[in-house]
Amino acid sequence: MCGIVGYIGNREAYPIILNGLKRLEYRGYDSAGIALYDGTNIQMCKTKGKVSDLESKVTSDISTAGKLGIGHTRWATHGIPNDVNSHPHYSMSGDLVIIHNGIIENYASIKKELIKRGYIFKSETDTEVLVNLIEDIKIKEKVKLGKAVQIALNQVIGAYAIAVFDRNKPDEIVVAKLGSPLAIGIGEDEFFVASDATPFIEFTNNAIYLEDEEMAIIRLGREVRVRKIKGDQLVDPYVQELQLNLEQIEKGGYEHFMLKEIYEQPTVIKDTYRGRLLADQGIIKLGGLEDYIQKFVNANRIIIVACGTSWHAGLVAEYIFEDWLRIPVEVEYASEFRYRNPIITDKDVVIAISQSGETADTLAAIKLAKQQGAFVYGVCNVVGSTISRETHSGTYTHAGPEIGVASTKAFTTQITVLTMIALKLAKVKGTISKSNYMMHLRELELIPSCVEEALRSDEKIKAIAEVFKDASNFLYLGRGYNFPVALEGALKLKEISYIHAEGYPAAEMKHGPIALIDDQMPVVVIAVNSNHYEKVVSNIEEIKARQGKIIAVVTEGDTSVKELADYIMEVPKTSENLSPLVTTIPLQLLSYHIAVMLGRNVDQPRNLAKSVTVE
Ligand code: F6R
Repeated sequence: MCGIVGYIGNREAYPIILNGLKRLEYRGYDSAGIALYDGTNIQMCKTKGKVSDLESKVTSDISTAGKLGIGHTRWATHGIPNDVNSHPHYSMSGDLVIIHNGIIENYASIKKELIKRGYIFKSETDTEVLVNLIEDIKIKEKVKLGKAVQIALNQVIGAYAIAVFDRNKPDEIVVAKLGSPLAIGIGEDEFFVASDATPFIEFTNNAIYLEDEEMAIIRLGREVRVRKIKGDQLVDPYVQELQLNLEQIEKGGYEHFMLKEIYEQPTVIKDTYRGRLLADQGIIKLGGLEDYIQKFVNANRIIIVACGTSWHAGLVAEYIFEDWLRIPVEVEYASEFRYRNPIITDKDVVIAISQSGETADTLAAIKLAKQQGAFVYGVCNVVGSTISRETHSGTYTHAGPEIGVASTKAFTTQITVLTMIALKLAKVKGTISKSNYMMHLRELELIPSCVEEALRSDEKIKAIAEVFKDASNFLYLGRGYNFPVALEGALKLKEISYIHAEGYPAAEMKHGPIALIDDQMPVVVIAVNSNHYEKVVSNIEEIKARQGKIIAVVTEGDTSVKELADYIMEVPKTSENLSPLVTTIPLQLLSYHIAVMLGRNVDQPRNLAKSVTVE
């Protein structure tokens, strides 16, 4: 959470930082701030609210001239979102200024010591403690800023991506990373710092991604110097060539990123299997998997760890893996797994699923699994992310940047990758028949056109959204492969419309939730062609008998459910195993339209942030 941006060079820093903050706002948006060095002094402006609020405030409050600056968009951890707690933070002397993404866990004890030494604090943040600790060390030990940062970071416990500069030395920015991402853009006589590469993509394609426990001194006229925070040795940084382009991170004519990302799914699913799925030849090529096939095939158990929507993709994978691969699968919330002393052995394979590749709980679960000897495979979207580096191997989804906070295209591309993995392994293990294998290769290849077709119902779904937008509760029901889709549909509605929604296995309804059903309760039922079709129809009858309002996702040409449901959303026919890839589309659109009709901030729903880098 939180986005950080910094610039040092020959251009005006303000527009670069402001634009960068807008691109990073998905990471947190309860307050924002900027500090610029104007040639003599630091100009600082901070505010509760969004980057647009900062923009309105800046021009009246400060001079925006300056070629060095840092900015921050916040998702509050310590201290409520207000102007004072917003970053950047000054040290007590006013010489140092810092931005921070992460949490300093032992800040309270450090603060106590600093107070004893005469330090006065204005905010409630852990970050102000850190900048004063750096200042204290700098003065006490008579060291330069870089050294002071290093000594300070050896005393703190927690997570951080920081950028700090000294107004008495305005030719350098010192940055450091542990647990939160930090990229350094390398231009010609200019440098950029940011939580991801989007703020500087139009200026340079060259970036260094700091590893955990690394820091860098970025000084004008010199190469970036990277060193270990512990141990002090210099590191030869790997300068990565970025593949990102500007178009990918803009809305491209859509009203919201979420809608753009929903509509991108046919393309990004294809991008995810392109060059990997050769249906005609009966081949699946996954570079990251080739060397580890036997590990999977001989595994006692596959454990999937993830959070949120990625966890739902993991649930879909459980059905697929167990059906085709015949290896027991457990799907764990990373946040529970990491703290419950799980039994893990070197015969287990762990799959970690994460769009951002930065989710703190998933990362901690990976570390735990590795410590206990398990082989860990990653399914990430963000190239070079911490999880993609922490796992032994993995496969990227090729969804492109997902900027809307509600995950959409990440979900379907994760399922695409997991399906390919399962098919490939099942073929090697001999647990899938040749005809079933070939059929699913071809079916997977057809998914993008099925998703396209599902998207054509958009206007019809919008009309359904209009009918139900004022409901205060929704129930989502599905069975088998579409039970996780019910959970995902409910999550999408909750997070962007703030309407309470619950997902349930349809048969489980009788064990409690059925008590909720009356003529005010919309029930979204996924009732596509499947082995459970008749059973789901019975569940629909049960809802109908209690006057619930039925919105059913059905296979094109369906007649039975059509007669029972109040509203239907049609999707094309697919194999049951792949059906989540299409049944999820109408649910994404339904949530989107309801949220828009209710005037919600669809791309930046309240209290949320795109990557959850704190536990
Ligand atoms: C929901 C959503 C979250 C994320 C979760 C995990 O729409 O976006 O539930 O799925 O925070 O994030 P990643 O996949 O980045 O690990």
